[in-house]
Amino acid sequence: MNIRALRKTESAPMDLLLDADPSQTLVEDYLSRGICYVAEIGNHIVGVYVLLPTRPDTIELVNIAILKQEQGKGFGKTLVLDAVNQARARGYKTVEIGTGNSSIQQLALYQKCGFRICGIDVDFFIRHYSEDIYENGIHCRDMIRLYQDL
Ligand code: COA
Repeated sequence: MNIRALRKTESAPMDLLLDADPSQTLVEDYLSRGICYVAEIGNHIVGVYVLLPTRPDTIELVNIAILKQEQGKGFGKTLVLDAVNQARARGYKTVEIGTGNSSIQQLALYQKCGFRICGIDVDFFIRHYSEDIYENGIHCRDMIRLYQDL
């Protein structure tokens, strides 16, 4: 798998990005302010993530997604670790990430990649999304905030 920054002339893999965040408005906002990376096997895009500078020295990993048929093969973990390395190489001191209280797999993955929980944005998904989100039989209401010092 080859991971590279999306070229300015290329369009972002929107369907894949919307798997990570159902809000087209938020995804487009992240794309306009962040750096989009794609993971390819041959010339087929199988994964994506966006790094979004938020504060001085801090960058956030947003919109990470792997194509459904390629999930569970370790590609997600490879992308998270690549994002951390990119952030370090760009001189950032902290990487942050946020996920839903119902996103059990993502919470496992991020902690396995060295992230620690630092807070909860209570009712984030109630405030920002018009539709109710359920995963693993759990109502997604709160955003769990995680960070990693570089
Ligand atoms: N409990 C514990 N660990 C779990 C788990 C669970 N229920 N489900 C998965 N994991 C672990 C795996 O065991 C693996 O760890 P390991 O390498 O130590 O075994 C780790 O999670 C990552 O697995 P990986 O195969 O690399 O993940 P993936 O390629 O399937 O990608 C996502 C993970 C989240 C990117 C992918 O599922 C996806 O695109 N989901 C839809 C979009 C999304 O939700 N994005 C995140 C928004 S916050």
